[in-house]
Amino acid sequence: MDAAHKADADAIIIRSAEPEDAARISAHLGQPGVFEGLLQMPDAPVASRLEYLQKMESNACRLVAMAGDEVAGCAGLHVQSATLRRMHVRGLGLSVSPQWQGRGVGQRLLARALDWADNWAGVLRVELYVHADNDRAIALYRKMGFVEEGRHTAFGLKNGRYVDCLSMARLHPNPPGL
Ligand SMILES: CC(C)(COP(=O)(O)OP(=O)(O)OC[C@H]1O[C@@H](n2cnc3c(N)ncnc32)[C@H](O)[C@@H]1OP(=O)(O)O)[C@@H](O)C(=O)NCCC(=O)NCCS
Repeated sequence: MDAAHKADADAIIIRSAEPEDAARISAHLGQPGVFEGLLQMPDAPVASRLEYLQKMESNACRLVAMAGDEVAGCAGLHVQSATLRRMHVRGLGLSVSPQWQGRGVGQRLLARALDWADNWAGVLRVELYVHADNDRAIALYRKMGFVEEGRHTAFGLKNGRYVDCLSMARLHPNPPGL
């Protein structure tokens, strides 16, 4: 990575996503190089995701990485089920736009989300699904403490064939005490 490239990425600001970001986040999620890894559909209208993205979720963390006015990436930690007995769990979503990939933005977003989970929200377990062929994402998750828990055969349709996915999870490395 050259120094100028790195400096550009250093100027990215990570902040919470607001309802008015919804259209830009939706456009980010729908672009080639992103939608394939997220189970989004190609050519889905930006408007098709607006209702969901504008809704504020209590007990969730939603972050955007902003390069000026552009959404360079986003991350979310979402409640997986409304039961109190799974309140210690969040599901992770993470994406970075192709022109920003490989420049540390995904790692920064993930580190910020994990700080929220570990130090503020009392989350014990963060879980996710990732396509088994998504080497970059798997390398990042392993680096950040996630371990593979299982493999799901023919989990999803991707560009004309069924692909497996891995379930991965990270337990709080040092759960809070008194
Ligand atoms: C997966 C994704 C979020 C990673 O974000 P990123 O900003 O590209 O990743 P980073 O630059 O922060 O890289 C962090 C680590 O990932 C790994 N990595 C990065 N590029 C890689 C590559 N080309 N191949 C393998 N591993 C790679 C490395 O471990 C790297 O750490 P290092 O730079 O210290 O070696 C991003 O590529 C993406 O959004 N892809 C499309 C959507 C998607 O697949 N999301 C995940 C769904 S589960």
